[in-house]
Amino acid sequence: MNQLDNQFLYTNLARELGEKIKNNTFKTGEKLPSIRSLHQKLSLSISTVYKAYIELEKQGLIEAKPKSGYYVKHQSRTCAIAYQPDVDSPQKLDFSIPSTDALSPHRISIPSYVNQVLKAAHRPDFLQLGTAMISPEILPFRQLSKIMKDFSQKEMRSILSYSLTQGDIELRRQLSLRSTGFLKQIGANDLIITNGCTEALMLALRATAKEGDIIALESPAFYGILPLLEDLGLYAIEIPNDPVNGLNLEILEDALQKHRISACLVTPNFSNPLGSLMPDAHKQKLVQLANRFDMPIIEDNINTELFYTQKRPSLLKAFDRNNLVITCTSFSKTVAPGYRIGWIIPGPNFMERILKLKAAISVSNSTLDQQIMARFMSLGNYDRYLRSLRSKMQKQVREYHSAIKSKIRNGIKINNPAGGILLWIEMLNGADGLEVYQTALENKISILPGTIFSTSGKFRNFIRIGCGYPFSKKTENAIDLLGSIIRDLGKG
Ligand SMILES: Cc1ncc(COP(=O)(O)O)c(C=O)c1O
Repeated sequence: MNQLDNQFLYTNLARELGEKIKNNTFKTGEKLPSIRSLHQKLSLSISTVYKAYIELEKQGLIEAKPKSGYYVKHQSRTCAIAYQPDVDSPQKLDFSIPSTDALSPHRISIPSYVNQVLKAAHRPDFLQLGTAMISPEILPFRQLSKIMKDFSQKEMRSILSYSLTQGDIELRRQLSLRSTGFLKQIGANDLIITNGCTEALMLALRATAKEGDIIALESPAFYGILPLLEDLGLYAIEIPNDPVNGLNLEILEDALQKHRISACLVTPNFSNPLGSLMPDAHKQKLVQLANRFDMPIIEDNINTELFYTQKRPSLLKAFDRNNLVITCTSFSKTVAPGYRIGWIIPGPNFMERILKLKAAISVSNSTLDQQIMARFMSLGNYDRYLRSLRSKMQKQVREYHSAIKSKIRNGIKINNPAGGILLWIEMLNGADGLEVYQTALENKISILPGTIFSTSGKFRNFIRIGCGYPFSKKTENAIDLLGSIIRDLGKG
C-alpha cells in the first residue's frame, strides 16, 4: 500500500470515530475498541489504526490510559452535541395548515410540523401532558419482571425460534378465554397477534381498501392512523364524532349515499382524543348501516378495558352478523406499550388476506414478549390488575379534570370521559392550540394541539391532555400556567 492510501485510511477512520464521539454515540469515559480488535475487524494495519487514535488524541477527543487502552475524553459543551431526541425548537416549526372540506373526500397529506409535535411529546425532560400512555410505574412491571426471570434455560431455547405468524397459541387461547361472554364464538384460531394496535389497523386498512379509495374516519381521529392513510394513498371523509353519541350516523349515511366508501374507521369505546362512548343502540345502528351498504367497519377497541362505567362496554363486533366488523386492539393502554402486542379479529371474510399480509409485513411477533403476556394472563391476576388500574386511572382523570376546571376556569369546554385517560379541551376564547402548544413547550410542558387529530385543518382551538401520569404539585402548577397561556392567547 502506498503512503497516500495509508493516510487516506487513517484519516477516514479518525473522522468516523471523531464524529461518533461528538454525537455521543461513544459516551464520555467509554473505552474505545482496542487497536488489535479494530485491526482484525476492519482488516486495517495496526499502524493505520494506531495513527487514527493518535490523531483523535491530538484533537483532544480521546486519551490513552497506561496498560488499559484509549478512552473518550470529557467533551466540552462546544464540542459535544448533547444527546437530545431529534426535536426542533418550537420557533422553527411551520404551522401552516391546509384547510379542506372535511365532508368531501380528500387525499391525506400530513403537514410537516406534525412529526415535530409528536417528537416533543416524548421529551423526557418535559412534563408529559401530551402522551396517551400510562406511567410505567403504574404498569405491572414487578409481575412481568418475575415472569421473565422464571423462564428456564430450556424455555429460553425454544423462545429463540420464530413464533407462528398467527401468534403464540397459548396467548391466543388466553385472549379467546377472556372474550367469553362478550364476544361469543371467538376461539384461538379467530384472532391474529399483531405488533400493537397500529399494525392491526394497518392490516385491516390494507385488507379493505386500496389506493384512491375512500375511508370514513371519525373526527377527531387518533393522529397515529393518519400517516397510514396517507401512505396507502387513501381519501378520507371526516364524520363528526360526538362525546355522548359517538359517530354521527346521519352524516355517515349521507356520505354512504353519495360515495362508495371502502371502510369506516371508528373507536366506539373511549375514542382518542374525544373519549366518546357510543351507546349500544347506536352501535347496533352503525352495524345495520354497514350491512345496508356492504361496508366493512374497522373497530379500534384499544381503550375498551379502561372503562369507568358499571358494565364493560360492548363491542361493535358483538352486533356483527355478517362478518363486516374487523376488531383491532392491543395491550398498549393497559399492560405494556413497549411489548407491541396487539391483536385483530378479522372474521372469516378477511382472515386469509390479513394472515397473508401479516406474514409478508412482519412474519410474526416477538416470541418472548408473547410468552410473557400469555403467562401474565394465565396467572389469573389479570382481572384483579385491570380492576385496580381502572380505579387508579379514574381517580387520576378526576384529579386532572377538576384541576383544569378550577385553574383554567371559564373559557373552556372539557369532556368528562367514562373511560380512557384523555381530556379534550375546547378553548372558547379562540386561542390557537398550536400557539398554546408552542408556548407550553417553551415552558417545558408538552401537550398536543387539536389540529393533529384532523386531516382538514379542524380543531384549531382544541388541545388534548393525557392523564396517565400521577397527579402531582408539578402537574397542578403546569395546569395553572397552561390556564394563563390560554387566557393570554385568547382572541378578544
Ligand atoms: C385510539 C388508538 N388506536 C391505536 C393506538 C396505537 O396503539 P399501539 O401502541 O398498540 O400500536 C393508540 C395509541 O395511542 C390509540 O390511542
